[in-house]
Amino acid sequence: MQINVMKDYQDLSRKAADCVAQQIKRRANSVIGFATGGTPVGMYAELIRMHQQEGLDFQQVTSFNLDEYVGLSTDHPQSYYHFMWERLFSQINILPENIHVPPGIFDDAEAVCRQYEAQIEQAGGIDLQILGIGQNGHIGFNEPRDTFTVSTHITELAEKTRKANARFFSSEAEVPHRAITMGIGSIMKARSILLLASGRSKAEAVKQIFSGRVDPHIPASVLQLHPHVMLILDEEAASLIV
Ligand code: F6R
Repeated sequence: MQINVMKDYQDLSRKAADCVAQQIKRRANSVIGFATGGTPVGMYAELIRMHQQEGLDFQQVTSFNLDEYVGLSTDHPQSYYHFMWERLFSQINILPENIHVPPGIFDDAEAVCRQYEAQIEQAGGIDLQILGIGQNGHIGFNEPRDTFTVSTHITELAEKTRKANARFFSSEAEVPHRAITMGIGSIMKARSILLLASGRSKAEAVKQIFSGRVDPHIPASVLQLHPHVMLILDEEAASLIV
């Protein structure tokens, strides 16, 4: 596992964007797994800048997002589809047909989960997966549980996660209780993984990645088994490991 400790959030965002840009320059038709939440916002702003000022070209890129809230439509202001459209997709030249975010509204949960996995496979698998990390160690919305769930599935959000994400809604009551998320296996199949963490509130979760054992109660601990993981942390998030 490669660990980069950056001075602050701005440096972290630049470094992360640089890794994504290098992947796209190496392989124009890269398949990138994107995350939402507060952490990657600076990286997305930097990628937009690189597209506008340096010609970083997303025309052949395919994207798969990690997760979506169950019950929110693509045009709901708090849906992850809407987030990605506003924060990145509408401002770069990625083709709409190459964008994939799990649907928040569906009839047949099993069918949509199966279909999402099939779409990733048809695209040739994910070259670079971006991850944030929850304060409870979740990746995607794989919450701490007694067992790992391998593939895309519907999950009940942990109370800690709903509380942390209430800042994006007008009240905690509005935060959906369920989400559709890639599974631990879907994430681990990515050829390389970039995990970003910023701030003191993530320091404990970051430390737990290195517990030396793989524990489904600390979902991110599974990353210890992946051969190509890079952590990009700011000093506060790294404060308990350095
Ligand atoms: C988001 C996701 C989550 C977040 C995590 C951290 O798509 O899958 O795992 O990465 O909850 O969120 P922030 O960055 O808001 O602290």
